[in-house]
Amino acid sequence: MAKHELESVARALVSKGKGILAADESLGTIKGRFERIKVESTEENRRSYRDMLFTTRGIEEFISGIILFDETIRSKAKDGRPFPEVLGQKGIMPGIKVDKGPVDLPGFPGEKVTEGLDGLRGRLNEYRGLGARFAKWRAVIAIGDGIPTRTCIDANAHALARYAALCQEAGLVPIVEPEVLMDGAHTIERCEEATEATLKSVFSELQEHRVVLEGMLLKPNMVLSGKECPKQATIPEVAEITVRCLRRVVPAAVPGIVFLSGGQSAELATDHLNAMNALGGHPWEISFSYARALQDPALKAWKGEASNVPMAQQIFYHRAKCNGAARYGKYSKQMEAAAA
Ligand code: 13P
Repeated sequence: MAKHELESVARALVSKGKGILAADESLGTIKGRFERIKVESTEENRRSYRDMLFTTRGIEEFISGIILFDETIRSKAKDGRPFPEVLGQKGIMPGIKVDKGPVDLPGFPGEKVTEGLDGLRGRLNEYRGLGARFAKWRAVIAIGDGIPTRTCIDANAHALARYAALCQEAGLVPIVEPEVLMDGAHTIERCEEATEATLKSVFSELQEHRVVLEGMLLKPNMVLSGKECPKQATIPEVAEITVRCLRRVVPAAVPGIVFLSGGQSAELATDHLNAMNALGGHPWEISFSYARALQDPALKAWKGEASNVPMAQQIFYHRAKCNGAARYGKYSKQMEAAAA
């Protein structure tokens, strides 16, 4: 695909007021999410759940793209149309998760490296044929005693760059996702250090691999206090430190930053996004690519029952709308309460 086409897809994914829904949970992840609502993870239940999300009326006002899992890009909605077609007709771009998940990095206890490069060129071409316009690869970096190590950061950055270059060759916009986890008792300063080191390595590898920065999106963690840290940073602190960290290392050529939610509550993830956009004056669009923070309230309302679908869709629409407002720095507690 020509460079300008990659650029226009990347820009459309971060168009004003919109962001991305990550609905690409692997079979293991969705099983865990369903267990919490006491629903068995059968193919039919997974299909019904995704159908509920994707057919929610009006979400295209706030959702530019949806990341799918391999099973979902091949399956059909209740009305018989393939899911990529359902999305396409709403003006939502289908994306695809292409990594095969993190595995233990040998010799480095507590650290992971993401697999999935073997045969990736062929899989990308197939996904492109199934309607995908963009892709996602997630690397995970943990903070702990003596970690992250330089080896772990660089191994993941190298894999991300090889993936991104292959995506662009196949005409897919790569979403590059290096996630520094919020698990642990570390301070926000420690998270900032690890995030900065990770992103530095990622952009150095992306440039080595001749990735077109204008035709990709970055999906990082926000810079947060560790979940167990006794001193939790405030919303304005998170916004200021996250933006400060990103400004040091993310080139202005990248069209957008689409944050993951990483285990934050739905409302807090919206608050943080809102606070960053309210600061204004950024060289890139600041947007979202949330899974849990967009889905969790709707998942809890759905509970696997067809009769709960209208309520779950209303809740999902509301979350998407709140995050859409946060893209402008215009989200408020009154808006949050309006749908309660
Ligand atoms: P969360 O928003 O739940 O962190 O998920 C984002 C994602 O796509 C992880 O790869």
